[in-house]
Amino acid sequence: MKQHLKTIVIFLLIVAVCGGLLVVTGVLPIRASDGHWAITRWFLNFSKERSVAFHSSGIEVPDLDREALVVKGAGHYEIGCLQCHGSPQREAPRVVAYMTPKPPDIAALVKEREPEELYYIVKHGILMTGMPAWPSLQRDDEVWPVVAFLLKYPELDHAAYRKLALGELDLEEVPDTVNGEDETPLDVPHHVVESCAMCHGLEGRGRGYGVFPVLAGQNEAYLVETLVAYRDDKRHSGTMEAVLGRLDVDDLERLAKYYANLPAAGALADSETDGPPRDEDHAEAIERGRQIALEGLPEQKVPSCADCHPIDGSTINDEYPVLTGQYADYLELQLELFAERVRGGTDAFNLMHPVVDHLEPEQMRDVALFYAAQSRDESP
Ligand code: HEC
Ligand code: HEC
Ligand code: HEC
Repeated sequence: MKQHLKTIVIFLLIVAVCGGLLVVTGVLPIRASDGHWAITRWFLNFSKERSVAFHSSGIEVPDLDREALVVKGAGHYEIGCLQCHGSPQREAPRVVAYMTPKPPDIAALVKEREPEELYYIVKHGILMTGMPAWPSLQRDDEVWPVVAFLLKYPELDHAAYRKLALGELDLEEVPDTVNGEDETPLDVPHHVVESCAMCHGLEGRGRGYGVFPVLAGQNEAYLVETLVAYRDDKRHSGTMEAVLGRLDVDDLERLAKYYANLPAAGALADSETDGPPRDEDHAEAIERGRQIALEGLPEQKVPSCADCHPIDGSTINDEYPVLTGQYADYLELQLELFAERVRGGTDAFNLMHPVVDHLEPEQMRDVALFYAAQSRDESP
C-alpha cells in the first residue's frame, strides 16, 4: 500500500514538473485562432456552470416586469453590450467572430438561464473571456434593468428593439439647432446626437419614464461637476460611466451648457411617470411632501429642502441641483442611494447625508412626488 502511494506521488510530481517545463519553454499555444481543445472547452464550461449556479443561488429577484426597467436596460444594452453581442437592429462587428470564446447570441442563451444567473454574470463578468464586469459594482439597482431587458430580448424584432433602446428619436431627422431659453437657437453638440439624446432626449426631458433624468434648464455648474464626477468615478453609474468614457472637460462643458440652456421643464404630466396617476391618489402624499420641502421635519432633525433647492426652480448656488419638475422616481432613487452611501457626486454631495439619514422611505417618496408636481413658474 505504502509502495503504491509512493509510486503515485512520484508519478504526480513528474507530471507536474513536465507541465511546468511545458509552460516555461513557451511551447503551449495561447492562440485564439486555434480555439480551445475540446477537453479545455468542456472544463471551462463546466467550471463556469458550477460557479454561476453556486454564486447565484439565494439572490432574490425583484419584480422585473415594469416597462420602465426594460427601457432603462435597453438603453444600457445599446451603449454597453451590442459592440460584442450585436442586436436585432445591428450585427456585432466582424472582428468579434475571431474572439475565443465568441460572445454568444443573447436570444438563445437567455432561454437557458434563470434571472439570478443573468444578474450574476452581468454584474461580475466572466474571467478570461472578454465578458466585462459592470462598470460600477456599488450599483445593484442598475444591473436588474439589464436583466429585465435580456428576458424580453428573444421576442424583439428590429422595430421593437429600436423602440425600446432609442424611443422616438430619429437620427436622420435631428436638426442642427434647437430653440433654447428665450427662443435663442442652440447648436446641438454631436455627442448629444450620437448618445445623450437616446436617453435624455434632444430637449433634455428624458423619455417619459422616471429612469432618465430631466436635464433641461438644470444648473450649468451642477451639470459640469456631475459629468466630471461620473467620468472620474466619484459618482457611480455603470450607464453614465460607459457613456462618458474619456470625454475631456471641454466636451463635458459643451454638453452641460447645451442642456442647461434648454427651456426648463414644467411639472411633469401624469403620463410621463411610470407610477400610478398622481393627482387624486397622490394629493395627500404631495401635501405631506410640501410640508417637508418648505418646513422640514424639526422633530426628525430634517432641514427644509427649499433652503438649498428652492421650489420655484430658482437657484441659491449654481452647484446645487434644481429638483422642480424632475421625475419623482428618479428623485426617490437618488435619495435612497444617498442613504445607502452609494451616491457620490460633486464636492458638496455629503451635504445630503444628514438630510436623508433622518427621512423615512415614505417621506422620500412624498417629497419626490411634491417636487415632480411643481413647475418653475408656480410659486409656493
Ligand atoms: C467586449 C465584449 C463583450 C461585451 C462588451 C459584453 N459581453 Fe457578454 N460576453 C462576451 C463573451 C466573449 C462571452 C462568452 C463568455 C463564455 O463563453 O464564457 C459573453 C457572455 C455573456 C453572457 C453569458 C453567456 C452564458 O450564458 O454563458 C451574458 C448573459 C452576457 N454576455 C451578457 C452581456 C451583457 C448584458 C452585456 C452588456 C452589459 C455584455 N454581455 C457585454 C463578450 C462581451
Ligand atoms: C443609455 C442611457 C443614457 C445615455 C446615452 C446618457 N445618459 Fe445620462 N443618465 C442616464 C441614467 C440612467 C442616469 C441616472 C444615473 C444615476 O442614477 O446616477 C443619468 C444621469 C445623468 C446626469 C445626472 C443628472 C442629475 O440630475 O444629477 C447627467 C448630467 C447626465 N446623465 C448627462 C448625460 C449626457 C451629457 C449624456 C451624453 C454624453 C448622457 N447623459 C447620456 C442614462 C443615460
Ligand atoms: C444644505 C443644502 C441641502 C439641503 C438642506 C438639501 N439638499 Fe439636496 N442636495 C444638496 C446638494 C449640494 C446636492 C448635490 C449633490 C451632488 O450631486 O453632488 C443635492 C442633491 C439632491 C438630490 C439629487 C438630485 C439629482 O438631480 O440627482 C436630491 C433628490 C435631493 N438633493 C433632495 C433633497 C431633499 C428632498 C431635501 C430635503 C429633505 C434636500 N435635498 C435638502 C444640498 C442640499
